[in-house]
Amino acid sequence: MGETLALAPDMLKGNQMAASVFEVMDRRTAIIGDVGEELDTVEGTVELKNIHFRYPSRPDVIIFNDFNMKVPSGKTLALVGHSGSGKSSVISLILRFYDPTSGRVMIDGKDIRNLNLKSVRKHMGFVQQEPVLFATSIYDNILYGKEGASDSEVVEAAKLANAHNFISGLPEGYSTKVGERGAQLSGGQRQRIAIARAILKNPAILLLDEATSALDVESEHVVQQALDKLMHNRTTIVVAHRLSTIRNAYQISVVQDGKIAEQGTHSTLIQNKSGAYYKLVSLQQQHLHLHEQQN
Ligand SMILES: Nc1ncnc2c1ncn2[C@@H]1O[C@H](COP(=O)(O)OP(=O)(O)OP(=O)(O)O)[C@@H](O)[C@H]1O
Ligand SMILES: [Mg+2]
Repeated sequence: MGETLALAPDMLKGNQMAASVFEVMDRRTAIIGDVGEELDTVEGTVELKNIHFRYPSRPDVIIFNDFNMKVPSGKTLALVGHSGSGKSSVISLILRFYDPTSGRVMIDGKDIRNLNLKSVRKHMGFVQQEPVLFATSIYDNILYGKEGASDSEVVEAAKLANAHNFISGLPEGYSTKVGERGAQLSGGQRQRIAIARAILKNPAILLLDEATSALDVESEHVVQQALDKLMHNRTTIVVAHRLSTIRNAYQISVVQDGKIAEQGTHSTLIQNKSGAYYKLVSLQQQHLHLHEQQN
């Protein structure tokens, strides 16, 4: 009896904790996946119109204040800007991880809030800033891009992503387990697997959030080649940290103070010596220069 009573406080705590876990599990998301118009085919025009946005968890911080952006079908738009300016947040809104406070995100001129979310996401490929892989084999991680793809499709996608060679070089090849979140692989390898997954999915709209962490020159080169193939003839919105990506974009947009501060091609923007783009690029080049001196 005495021993059981001693446990009573813990049992009570346990009960309360279980209750709070069930509370979280019972929460409903504001964004529902199964309602709205199904989107069968997509041309791939993406537009953000008069977007105002704050994260629900931080309502005091304004992220976008009348943000406007348009990407024609098949073109590449590069988003650049200082850390924390809201580049990744643009991608989160397009994927509809969040709804804007006001304004509209549109695909082919249709407000995504009226579209079936699952069918919209079928047309979008996303390569994250820090790609997260599932703790399973490399093969399954790529296959996730397209349910029911054949072995040869998976290998073909890996080849296009410049990943086939390193995968074949591993003792267990495509069956290699990537570890929790992909921890057994290098950053460049994880990115190429995420790219292979996107290639297999073959989406009309591609969202790329380039890694901020520097890759070594060789991996950067192979990752860049893989990305170039993936972006070809696809609507692409890329958060760009590398000059090589930026230079090839049809349009560059500089995100600053909740808006697009400047846009144009690399060659036109770079001429405005008092502009936001010029300042960003010169900062980055100083940074690159520093790296070179250190090595
Ligand atoms: N899930 C979130 N909840 C609350 N605030 C967030 C969330 N994600 C980002 N923020 C905030 O929104 C602002 C914009 O962040 P975002 O990640 O879009 O910046 P970024 O331009 O992608 O930066 P970086 O170049 O460092 O990746 C920052 O102030 C950030 O702290
Ligand atoms: Mg980011």
